[in-house]
Amino acid sequence: QAAADPHRLQFHMMAPANWMNDPNGLIQFKGEYHLFYQHHPYSAKWGPMHWGHAVSRDLVCWEHLPIALAPSESFDLDGCFSGSAVDDEGTLTLMYTGIAPEGSLHRQIQCLAMSEDGRTFSKFDGNPVIGAPPVDGSEDFRDPKAWKHEGQWYVVIGSGKEGIRNVLLYRSADLREWQYVGVVAESDGTQGAIWECPDLFALGDKYVLVVSPNVEKAKNIYMIGDFDYTTGKFVQESMGELDYGFDYYAAQSFEDDTGRRIVIGWMDIWGANMPTQAYGWAGAMTVPRVLSLLPDGALSVLPVPELHSLRKEPTCFNNIVVDSGSSGYLGELRGDCLELIAEFELPESRNAEFGLKVRCSSDGREETRFGYRVAEGELIVDRSRSGLDASGISRCGLSLPDGETLKLHIYLDRSSVEVFSNEGRGVISNRIYPGQDSLGVDLYVSEGRVRLIKLEVWKLKPIWN
Ligand code: FRU
Repeated sequence: QAAADPHRLQFHMMAPANWMNDPNGLIQFKGEYHLFYQHHPYSAKWGPMHWGHAVSRDLVCWEHLPIALAPSESFDLDGCFSGSAVDDEGTLTLMYTGIAPEGSLHRQIQCLAMSEDGRTFSKFDGNPVIGAPPVDGSEDFRDPKAWKHEGQWYVVIGSGKEGIRNVLLYRSADLREWQYVGVVAESDGTQGAIWECPDLFALGDKYVLVVSPNVEKAKNIYMIGDFDYTTGKFVQESMGELDYGFDYYAAQSFEDDTGRRIVIGWMDIWGANMPTQAYGWAGAMTVPRVLSLLPDGALSVLPVPELHSLRKEPTCFNNIVVDSGSSGYLGELRGDCLELIAEFELPESRNAEFGLKVRCSSDGREETRFGYRVAEGELIVDRSRSGLDASGISRCGLSLPDGETLKLHIYLDRSSVEVFSNEGRGVISNRIYPGQDSLGVDLYVSEGRVRLIKLEVWKLKPIWN
């Protein structure tokens, strides 16, 4: 059956089979990158949560390992929900939310599991380490993200109170006894009930707070500001989305031994069509991305350069003038596993939309567009003709000053697109499910003309056998 699956990804991290959602426990431990994930090993649909586990030496090729955590104890019998990993003096320590069966304890409680070898994990015999939400929280109390700062452990946990979402902070000397510090930040109260999967980290001379609210148009918010360890208060200066696509959620970050802040997201979303379930799997991770602050204070999100190792021979196109109504600019270029780096001059027509299209069918019915709308100053990914199970246009504001060119860096896999624009200022990730034979690539402009300065394309090697 798997052989007939047209949408199984070729160079993205996925579970060997069945369901996956959030990335968990991202860490570089004893030289190896570890990626755990929310996993239901017995079905392609969400169910009692386990932690799947994979390791990598380069963030590109992943080796699957046995399941790290399975529901087994009174404190997690209904599931091992999302969480994080820390290196506690050579012990790989996972902090996760145990879902205790209704009636015993509180439902969502924070637990530990340890490993010396990074392969087998034992749950801490003193679990839970945080057995109930504080007064500022609700029974939605989950997804602990722990880190060390000046000899103390800290953890942020997603919660809410009376319909207002919040992030709560705890402090500990030993990861076992935790003191509640306070509310890091809270929403304005207009949306939903919990901020899931919080993450808080230093970036340059600022702090970044990331939360997943799971509401339309605000799937994965980042806030840039300042953070005070004593009061636990975060003061927000600016905000945006870590990714403006339809399929990006529950992102988690970690710092590796080169000092890079690397982030990986679940490249799907609750409620999305997942036609791959018919082939026994659902869910994937985005490519790993590096976060940084640009000189003007904007957040930059760029794919890790390690991904260059996937490249086969390059094809290069230079200086092509594209006319509206014409097509076939890239000759025989075709593919469903490609990396494309393009640079365009901005066209004269303010009303134009221009860019690249991929997964084009020969009858013209299917295509996925990466475009720039000059008047709106926005980057778009149009997947309204990307196959039956995808729809809609993703948009991301990208203002390009006069004289600036549009730069697109695209990763295309069998059922996903990820585009990074100008220094990582705009990022969009979407799943698409086009027909197997829709493999064309082309340039387009909606009116007038546009000049492509340069396009480099690589076919990419698969990481899975
Ligand atoms: C986010 C989330 C988390 C939870 C997990 C359950 O996608 O809802 O809040 O821990 O998924 O699988």
